Amino acid sequence: MKTTFSIIKADVGGWPGHALVHPDLKEIAAIKLRDAQVSELIIDYHVTNCGDDLELIMTHKNGVDAKEIHNLAWDTFCEATERASELGLYGAGQDLLCDAFSGNIKGMGPGVAEMEFTERKAEPIVAFMMDKTEPGAFNLPIFKIFADPFNTAGLIIDPSIHDGFNFEVWDILEHKHVLLRTPEELYDLLALIGAKSRFVIKRVFPKKTSKLPESEPVAVISTEKLYQIAGEYVGKDDPAGVVRAQSGLPALGEVLEGFSLGHLVSGWMRGSHNGPLMPVSVKDAQCTRFDGPPRVIALGFQMKNGKLTQPVDLFADIAFDYTRQRALEITDYMRRHGPFEPHRLPMADMEYTTLPKVMTKLGKRFKEVK
Ligand code: F6R
Ligand code: MG
Ligand code: MG
Repeated sequence: MKTTFSIIKADVGGWPGHALVHPDLKEIAAIKLRDAQVSELIIDYHVTNCGDDLELIMTHKNGVDAKEIHNLAWDTFCEATERASELGLYGAGQDLLCDAFSGNIKGMGPGVAEMEFTERKAEPIVAFMMDKTEPGAFNLPIFKIFADPFNTAGLIIDPSIHDGFNFEVWDILEHKHVLLRTPEELYDLLALIGAKSRFVIKRVFPKKTSKLPESEPVAVISTEKLYQIAGEYVGKDDPAGVVRAQSGLPALGEVLEGFSLGHLVSGWMRGSHNGPLMPVSVKDAQCTRFDGPPRVIALGFQMKNGKLTQPVDLFADIAFDYTRQRALEITDYMRRHGPFEPHRLPMADMEYTTLPKVMTKLGKRFKEVK
């Protein structure tokens, strides 16, 4: 019997501004998911937050895109929104873009990362959650984890992963996807995913030669694009991802190593700036300076028949201090550029902000250059 691991997340009100999730909202979510566990809709759960995003981590037997599970998440976000409104939290219900649940939460605002797979004897699994950035922020670490031998020693020295992995990449503008094999198509893959605002890694699969089933994902990322759904800028699509580790997969340490650069991602203030992605503990996942810098948290579980151990707050470790220090230096350096690119995003990514309005306003005052 397969198990499904789901992360469904939404920003339903910030405390204060876009910094954090208020504890009342997490409490409401925990009660709601506990009830769902008692009624055996879900097997286990964990509620947390990354910055202003309320994160519901659930295990169950219903598969991906299950109506009952998405409905549970939707109802939870609606109840949390009510409390957010009572408290006067900022942007209450921000990510709930529809009035009523329609059967699948995708396309309604919240982000979804879920996968169904056959549990191994011991199943180490990591939930990654980011704030103030977009799904493409996962491209670089996921690539490094599953395809870069300078990151993942196992690609060279472990016969069980030496053949590499398959990457499912989505073109989120054209709504198409393609499966690319690594290491055979490494350069094609990089040609696409380097353009991280358009091409995003959705899933990673084992190769046919792996001891794991070829059709069951070993990593999955949420790829919902909020502004495309809403037709206007309503906040960033702060993503979540799930990565399985060990025996036939990259080791836990190889998975975490993918986040050791503090790489540049887009998002941050007003969703319009490039800045370093800083790996932090859950308690440090609060976006302050210039509404950032962008953060990522990692919760590690062992799973058995869908039951989860207590999570380990994996970036709450001194081994990531240097990455954080460097990220803070980069933060300072990037900030000094003010409104200049490449701190501010390029024109093409600013379409949904004031820039087109500035162009319209100045329209007639532009003269031909002779
Ligand atoms: C970025 C983000 C914040 C807001 C900013 C302005 O993802 O959520 O940086 O864009 O605080 O927020 P509003 O427009 O709500 O005043
Ligand atoms: Mg917000
Ligand atoms: Mg957020």
